[in-house]
Amino acid sequence: MPHPQSTAGPVTVFVCMTCRHADDAAEAQPRAGARLAATLTSLEGVEVREVECLANCKRGPSVAMARPGGWSYVFGNLAPTDGAAVMEGAQLLARSADGLMPWRGRPEPLKRGLIARIPPLPGASA
Ligand code: FES
Repeated sequence: MPHPQSTAGPVTVFVCMTCRHADDAAEAQPRAGARLAATLTSLEGVEVREVECLANCKRGPSVAMARPGGWSYVFGNLAPTDGAAVMEGAQLLARSADGLMPWRGRPEPLKRGLIARIPPLPGASA
């Protein structure tokens, strides 16, 4: 189901709705991932999709983002309040000429929370 604030665009942000935060009680609701998703604002060129589990559970809340022909990124250890940083990073990736999210200007949560980056599929163009 599409995120209620999504817009079509070249970058897709996948936000894990089922992540917990280390400071949360086990039964805390809504979960930290859902609280993070609620802070993701609408931006032109960025589509937000809610998913269940990015296999980064011990380092959640977790977000992944991808762009056709560009690199894909997985971020973790985010805070439920990091929505603006996530969307800023998505915009950096959307505007990148080489398909990489630049380090310079990248929001701090996406620097310290970088889990992995994955190169574009062979043959894919940006
Ligand atoms: S529950 Fe969020 S990555 Fe697994």
